Amino acid sequence: MTARLIDGKAHAEALRARIATDVAALKASHGVVPGLAVVLVGEDPASQVYVRTKGHQTLDVGMASFEHKLAADTSEADLLALIARLNADPAVHGILVQLPLPGQLTPNTVILAIDPDKDVDGLHPVNAGRLAQAAPGDPLDFPVSCTPLGCLMLLQDTLPSLRGLDAIVIGRSVLVGKPVAQLLLREDCTVTMAHSRSRDLAALCRRADIVVAAVGRPGMVGGDWIKPGATVIDVGINRVALPDGKTRLVGDVDFAAALEVAGAITPVPGGVGPMTVACLLHNTVRAAWKRVGAK
Ligand code: GUN
Repeated sequence: MTARLIDGKAHAEALRARIATDVAALKASHGVVPGLAVVLVGEDPASQVYVRTKGHQTLDVGMASFEHKLAADTSEADLLALIARLNADPAVHGILVQLPLPGQLTPNTVILAIDPDKDVDGLHPVNAGRLAQAAPGDPLDFPVSCTPLGCLMLLQDTLPSLRGLDAIVIGRSVLVGKPVAQLLLREDCTVTMAHSRSRDLAALCRRADIVVAAVGRPGMVGGDWIKPGATVIDVGINRVALPDGKTRLVGDVDFAAALEVAGAITPVPGGVGPMTVACLLHNTVRAAWKRVGAK
């Protein structure tokens, strides 16, 4: 059997088209243009690429994009002052501070300074708490971290129902593993949270109808770990060196082997990645609707 490929690019494109319609409706009904502020401190090349992509896609769906590029030696006081200004700015509905930050800045202090209703990254402890408290059936009417939300959307588009399915989440990070597990619990999955210290990970994985791999170890999840027909969401983005000196992006799943066993699988690149930015735009337009008191 060869698994169905879950085309993250196509899903993200469809989501952006729905967002563009929603942005136009908000403009027409309330005269409001959703605005996303992205703050980049320093010159990390990968972060510069992400920020550029976010800026282009924000404009493409009809939203306003505000980019703030700060020097690598920016003090915490200066960054917090900028966040305070963005919190108070009515044209800004979403604020994202690109991570990682240079060493003199403490990510938790910075994230805590963002107004939770503008925290379109879903990283503020208030939003993490809202997700932890969301029961099945409760609306997700607050920002949910973008990569986990993207994983959920891909699963919902791939499977007729998530109810009662056995899911394993490999990786317990605050950014991905924990929120993905909470989202799947809210969908009535039976969730196993596994990690690097779990005993017999392969056997745990083989029981799962849904595998979400977010460990950051290239190809760790073997084909023989996958239950035939399972749905595999690979969150890993690992750059590996090839014998010819070039590099290649691979996920946490041995893609070629899993393809033969799984029912459906996300490729890397082109799976979860494109959904992350689309979900950022989704959170921003939702924040703008919430501000006008609708939806
Ligand atoms: N750097 C890499 N991924 C992310 C993300 O999802 N949010 C933020 N703020 N920074 C990142």
